[in-house]
Amino acid sequence: MPDKKTFYITTPIYYPSGQMHIGHTYTTVAADAMARFKKMTGYQTYFLTGTDEHGQKIERQAREAEKSPQDFVDGIVEDTKKLWAMMEVEYDDFIRTTDPRHIKAVQKIFKRFFDQGDIYESEYEGDYCAQCESFWTPTQLMEGNLCPDCGRPTEKVREKSYFFRMSKYQDWLIDYIKTHPEFIQPASRANEMLNNFLLPGLQDLSVSRTSFTWGVPVDFAPGHVVYVWVDALSNYITALGYLSDDDSLMKAFWPADVHLVGKEIVRFHTIYWPIMLKALGLPLPKQVFGHGWLLFDQDKMSKSKGNVVYPGPVVRRYGADALRYYLMREMPFGADGNYSNEALMKRINSDLANDLGNLLSRTVAMIEKYFNGILPAPSNYEAVDKALIAQLEALPQAVETQMNALQFSQALAETWRVIGECNRYIDETQPWVLGRNLDDKPRLGTVLFVLAEALRFVAVLITPVMPATPERIFAQLGLEDADAKTWESLEAFGLLTPGLRVKKEEALFPRIDILADLPLLEAENDAELKGNAPDAPEEEKEEEIQAPPISIDDFGKLNLRVALVLACEMVEKSDKLLKLTLKVGDEERTVLSGIAHHYPPDALVGKKVVLLKNLAPRRIRGHLSQGMVLCAAADDDSILKVLTVDGDIEDGAQIS
Ligand code: ME8
Repeated sequence: MPDKKTFYITTPIYYPSGQMHIGHTYTTVAADAMARFKKMTGYQTYFLTGTDEHGQKIERQAREAEKSPQDFVDGIVEDTKKLWAMMEVEYDDFIRTTDPRHIKAVQKIFKRFFDQGDIYESEYEGDYCAQCESFWTPTQLMEGNLCPDCGRPTEKVREKSYFFRMSKYQDWLIDYIKTHPEFIQPASRANEMLNNFLLPGLQDLSVSRTSFTWGVPVDFAPGHVVYVWVDALSNYITALGYLSDDDSLMKAFWPADVHLVGKEIVRFHTIYWPIMLKALGLPLPKQVFGHGWLLFDQDKMSKSKGNVVYPGPVVRRYGADALRYYLMREMPFGADGNYSNEALMKRINSDLANDLGNLLSRTVAMIEKYFNGILPAPSNYEAVDKALIAQLEALPQAVETQMNALQFSQALAETWRVIGECNRYIDETQPWVLGRNLDDKPRLGTVLFVLAEALRFVAVLITPVMPATPERIFAQLGLEDADAKTWESLEAFGLLTPGLRVKKEEALFPRIDILADLPLLEAENDAELKGNAPDAPEEEKEEEIQAPPISIDDFGKLNLRVALVLACEMVEKSDKLLKLTLKVGDEERTVLSGIAHHYPPDALVGKKVVLLKNLAPRRIRGHLSQGMVLCAAADDDSILKVLTVDGDIEDGAQIS
């Protein structure tokens, strides 16, 4: 078993009640990035994720889908594993609460609670939300007996039940939280737990159910199944072999270093879970980090509201690393933030295509141009070089500090600040001027060596968040030596060996045409929401990018018409989309267009615009869009204008 420092990190185990979306992806990618970072910095790591498969909600959903609960969850679990593979998530174990290993251990845990008097039998009546698998007290319920978490109606449930004596541990837990400020992070959530739940007094918790059967059977009480949260929380130790024949992982990795969870389930992880562990005589996890929510149009995502974003369409277009970067960079871990495809594309264009991509392509292109593709050796470092080198040498420590505090966004910001410095260094040293004069060749060699070495630093530092990109950078730098790709290799600047053969390849992150891609991405997401994700073969994507020359016959395939804008309004729950009603001769058509940032709705009414009429219709946000209104846009999309016709001509007229 490990003799090194260890690090155990977990995600929540997700309900397999539908396809995992960008919110689940967010936590899982964060855990993966952290596990990769710890591994790189010398820890023996263990990264656990999985699925929480029992409970009334799943039982009901399976019935609706006319499947057995097991068949129902099996399909979703398979898709979930594929999704994590697509996202480059490398977990050590994937636990399912239907795994026999888990069921056996949960039964033993429950029996132990009973034997030692933590659990007693009684009768329960309460307000229960089947969606959230939670009981609520009358003071917690919202008006109309609605669940305070999801807003759905709760139901009165009366049944025989085992109860856990939570109240017995209350004072101990209050004291523990107060004396261990690092336990609940961010710290504001600790106050919330103390003030809202612990200080008002803990009620004993109903921990078994008799009203349904899809759960872990209580082996000494036929008819009872274990309450899903007791079942689910146990996963963090059953996966390590707790109470099994082989508990070596448990010995090596418990207590967990951090449970990453969304803020809505901090309560379960910092009240019930510590009390369960205390009752079992086990140490508590060192930290529970409750991160914020990814919102969509400022609202919590939910499938029933139709505002869920799935990672598939983004990853198929721009790759997993781009999405991972956006998720980890866009908002501070802990705070809520809005997800938007447009913000994602802007980040890819500015940070990845421009800042990082151009730094690499400029550096490699200049080494090819001025040194026949062979990495030159540096000569004397001048002040400007030394300043950049100092920044690079300080960077690993700064990144490490931020990563250790789970501040992914800050860690990336530090790295991108130095990438910005590298680009400024090029502007300042002007290698293209040095390249004109043979006497300046040694100086030019130094500048290009510094840049190549800076790129090596950057590639190593971004590995936890963007696991696939570094190899693509190393390949262009001609770097194969595995020792020059490790975290330790950043201890000293200058490890890169002169003489490497660089090789310019395709752009790391091609610039995105935001206007063109936005509606496509939304349409693909809508298709995924309806459960029929279209396959986007790679060849098709490349054809789009290369835009080969076309014949006049090809052009003739476009049915372009003059169209009069009769009406125009914002599309509900979107800040980008306008819904245009167009008159095209005798016909009326609806077209959705992502131009709301550039035109207030009424500014277009009465204009004659150019319509691509025979574009295959697409359903976007519940509206059928029948065609496309042509626009012209500035390179950076800051200005956009619709095409109109010069002079008076009837709508419906053909454009050729
Ligand atoms: O709660 N923004 O499962 P779950 C950020 N089975 N994170 C989000 C998110 C969003 N919009 N939506 C989901 C359960 N998440 C229980 C957990 S653990 C012992 C049992 C992430 O499928 C976030 O981590 O509802 C959140 O806590 C989790 O998914 C909820 O997943």
